[in-house]
Amino acid sequence: MTGDIRWHPGSADAALRARCAGQRGLTVWLTGLSGAGKSTIAVAAERALLEKGCLAMRLDGDNLRHGLNAGVGFDEAGRAEAVRRAGEAALLLAECGAVAIVAMISPYRADRDRVRARHAEAGIPFLEAFVDVPLAVAESRDPKGLYAKARRGEIAGFTGIDAPYEAPVSAELHLRTGLDTAESCVAALVAGTISASRGA
Ligand code: ADX
Repeated sequence: MTGDIRWHPGSADAALRARCAGQRGLTVWLTGLSGAGKSTIAVAAERALLEKGCLAMRLDGDNLRHGLNAGVGFDEAGRAEAVRRAGEAALLLAECGAVAIVAMISPYRADRDRVRARHAEAGIPFLEAFVDVPLAVAESRDPKGLYAKARRGEIAGFTGIDAPYEAPVSAELHLRTGLDTAESCVAALVAGTISASRGA
């Protein structure tokens, strides 16, 4: 109980929802530098999962900042709040039986670990996928020209330049987009997701 707000327990559980949905929901969380390929992989994985009959819904960090995370900043507290909100939204989707695919820089380990803990409390699988690319490669791609802006001092607190990125230490999936093709990264993500969704 938080103050005067009470929790109302339901009578439906995850097993009943899974039976209804024909699958067990879970969250796949893609974290990595801007330009690492998170959004590209998430788009393709969402499509591939849906085509295989697996209900999936993508929550992209940039897109969320048009709605759920509108007005949330990029300082440490802002990123914590953006990740918390995305984590709660993903958890709701996953509790409903969907595969929630989150693609966010989510640079702070503690923020991601809080989302993981929320999923553990709810008994919902959480797969962290580290979309790993050296900073030099992400910066050379610079699809939105933001690294160049950050280097010119036009964006303060840009991840990898003057704000930290804390890589996962024990991610369930490790996707190296600088070494492997996008297709093989997507295939690994889809395979890991399907086996977790069936095996969970
Ligand atoms: S997160 O760090 O809070 O998880 P999120 O994934 O939502 O970030 O948004 C990242 C996107 O915001 C980047 O792709 C980039 O387009 C934009 N952006 C704007 N300012 C920054 C910044 N200071 N650091 C990183 N990305 C930024």
